[in-house]
Amino acid sequence: MSMNKKRVLSGIRATGRLHLGNYLGAVKGMLALQEDSEYETFYMVADLHTLTTPYDKEKLQENTRNVILDYLAAGLDPEKSTIFVQSHIPEHTELAFLFSTVVSIARMQHLPTYKEKVMQNPEHNTMALLNYPVLMAADILIYKADSVPVGIDQEPHLEVSREVARKMNDTYGTDFPEPKRFVNKSLPAGRQGEYVPSLTGEGKMSKSVEGSYINLTDDLETIRKKLASAPTDSGRGKKVPTAGGVANLLKFVELFEGEDRRKEYEKAYSEKGIAYSELKEELAKAIYKELQPIQKKRVELEKNPEYVDKVLKDGAEKARKVAQETVKEVRKKMGLS
Ligand code: ADP
Ligand code: TRP
Repeated sequence: MSMNKKRVLSGIRATGRLHLGNYLGAVKGMLALQEDSEYETFYMVADLHTLTTPYDKEKLQENTRNVILDYLAAGLDPEKSTIFVQSHIPEHTELAFLFSTVVSIARMQHLPTYKEKVMQNPEHNTMALLNYPVLMAADILIYKADSVPVGIDQEPHLEVSREVARKMNDTYGTDFPEPKRFVNKSLPAGRQGEYVPSLTGEGKMSKSVEGSYINLTDDLETIRKKLASAPTDSGRGKKVPTAGGVANLLKFVELFEGEDRRKEYEKAYSEKGIAYSELKEELAKAIYKELQPIQKKRVELEKNPEYVDKVLKDGAEKARKVAQETVKEVRKKMGLS
């Protein structure tokens, strides 16, 4: 581990298998930074954050494992990145408590992400949920990471992380960086995947909305079926829609087949029309082509649970060393022993 490399941290909650939104919005950025020798990368499964909304305790381990398998299958490499489970490093929660001393309740209550979750689960308005962004700040700052590959929906949380860093630095003289969302500038604007739309034509692709997502583990037939239910129109018109089912399908064409193909469809829309069954078949194949090697690797990994255990054990050891150092420093600066 080199002291002068810039650090990266990212995580995904253990709520199920990863979908294309997670893959394009977060995992692809994680991969890009892992391959960049200027960065030292830390990637975790945020199992503690999973507890902030209703969850099944019998399935938590399995879901955590599934995210790890998806990570490794997608190309996260334990030789290059530190891969671990958040709750294996209890220092995250200790730092979150110390951070909570500089965060006001009102600031947390006004976050759009908090309000949304309370609306979804009004009977679950807990301290853990309110504290979600503070724990996330601890996840990032415990490694002094300044770059965070996540989708655009996480921006309000990163803003809180920056505020916590500033507050801690001003109050206690720590040297936390102000972490920024990583945007992969080497990709063209339309292919960055920071906001992957829902297949339903409304909102973003999300695990919590049935029919909105394609999982990394879906086979070609499943992808076909899911695309078949995506809403369309007559296929012709003066102006290509900018929102709704057709706009979203064209976004997927751009993401998986490129901008030129999208432009061809746009042209067809105002001339001879689009045959959506053909568009969907071509798109299903393009998506599957990208997922196939990931699925092949996943099958191999599933056969080798000891290897995955070892990755997590080594990852926790490496992460913990860094985390302990930061907590020790903060404790001291805050007047604890
Ligand atoms: P979900 O909304 O399906 O529960 P999470 O909130 O667990 O997904 O998100 C995990 C990561 O994937 C975050 O970095 C988030 O920004 C990213 N992400 C999730 N959905 C999308 C999407 N539709 N487009 C882009 N990024 C996404
Ligand atoms: N809040 C993130 C999400 O819903 C998960 C997460 C927890 C995270 N801790 C993090 C992401 C630290 C990046 C960095 O997806």
